[in-house]
Amino acid sequence: MSRLDSFIRRMEAQRAIIAHVCRAIERLKGPVVEFGLGHGRTYDHLRETFPDRRIIVLDFEASERHGPLPPAEDLILGDIRETGPALAGIGAAFLHSDIGPGGEMTDGETAEWLPRLVPMLLVSGGLVLSDARLQHPELQPLCLPDGIEEGRYYFYRRR
Ligand SMILES: C[S@@+](CC[C@H](N)C(=O)[O-])C[C@H]1O[C@@H](n2cnc3c(N)ncnc32)[C@H](O)[C@@H]1O
Repeated sequence: MSRLDSFIRRMEAQRAIIAHVCRAIERLKGPVVEFGLGHGRTYDHLRETFPDRRIIVLDFEASERHGPLPPAEDLILGDIRETGPALAGIGAAFLHSDIGPGGEMTDGETAEWLPRLVPMLLVSGGLVLSDARLQHPELQPLCLPDGIEEGRYYFYRRR
């Protein structure tokens, strides 16, 4: 598969799973959290998909060059490893973690702190979609929606 095809498949998977999450969390209260603003593509899509929820985004840095930024109170700049714990107990209904490079390639250090941080931010029953595998007893692995290739994304529910 060409790199372009692979990229397109990844974007299509992202969109399909976010649509699935939107239906799945209808009855759950709580904000949406995104790790990794990047070029703001998924943030913009989350805004459209969850117009009534607060969306809090974390990244090292952010630039308006890439599109609309979250309001100042919902944009947290710095290393998520250090800034994320301040959101513990926020009761997020959905957390989208897109900090790359993803899959099994996540470095050992990230594989250590990221799975510990994620459950701290989610309400019980809240969902997380991650580009990296997250192993934690409080995170129950879920099947991806039909048509999404395994290993492209990882999907969990906070117990
Ligand atoms: C793949 S990009 C995100 C793409 C974005 N979701 C989009 O759709 O445009 C990954 C982002 O994660 C950020 N990132 C990676 N590790 C981070 C960390 N430990 N703390 C803060 N930001 C981090 C990078 O700065 C980068 O902007």
